[in-house]
Amino acid sequence: MKFFLDTANVEQIKKFVELGLVDGVTTNPTLISKEGKDFHSVIKEICEIVDGPVSAEVVSLDAEGMIKEARELASLADNVVIKIPMTKEGMKAVNVLSKEGIKTNVTLVFSPLQALIAAKAGATYVSPFVGRLDDIGHEGMKLIEDVVKIYRNYDIKTEVIVASVRHPTHVLEAARIGADIATVPFDVMDKMFKHPLTDIGIERFMKDWENYLKNKK
Ligand code: E4P
Repeated sequence: MKFFLDTANVEQIKKFVELGLVDGVTTNPTLISKEGKDFHSVIKEICEIVDGPVSAEVVSLDAEGMIKEARELASLADNVVIKIPMTKEGMKAVNVLSKEGIKTNVTLVFSPLQALIAAKAGATYVSPFVGRLDDIGHEGMKLIEDVVKIYRNYDIKTEVIVASVRHPTHVLEAARIGADIATVPFDVMDKMFKHPLTDIGIERFMKDWENYLKNKK
């Protein structure tokens, strides 16, 4: 399973790149706005740090505008992926861009049929949002199960990015289902390292080692 980081914060990305854990990055207008930097410059900077796909989202709502933005973004670096919302205009843009060899990530996917449509339009990646579905009392992970199953039924090559991840269990469940990728916020990735028994174990080993050194003398 691939791990993407769901952030536009360069410092956060560097911290996990050092650990060899970042297979890619996803951003969105909200994440970009938090950084208060020029959009294209941030994307360029992230693309230099990360050896993997970096999603940058268009903000136009019409296909023509999306295609124009996408071409500009794609020219920033070879690893830019264009994030396009799951709308009819969006799918029109995905269809054009995929024929030009520009990679796309269809975002704001909340149903299995939307995911199927995105794949048929030529999306490289599809991003079903689990957390936002959970928020309204739906089962986010059920959507992932359905999308993965449908793609397997038809040997669809579009990769499934589990998005809107809120806690480590989302990542665990995504891995159990066999989703290709989880895009994980920094704090969730941090929590994935932790287990109280690991801390207790280290503490005990350190104490025992000190005793060993004392007794040896
Ligand atoms: C990633 O592609 C999405 O933009 C992101 O995961 C959305 O997460 P949120 O629902 O926590 O905003």
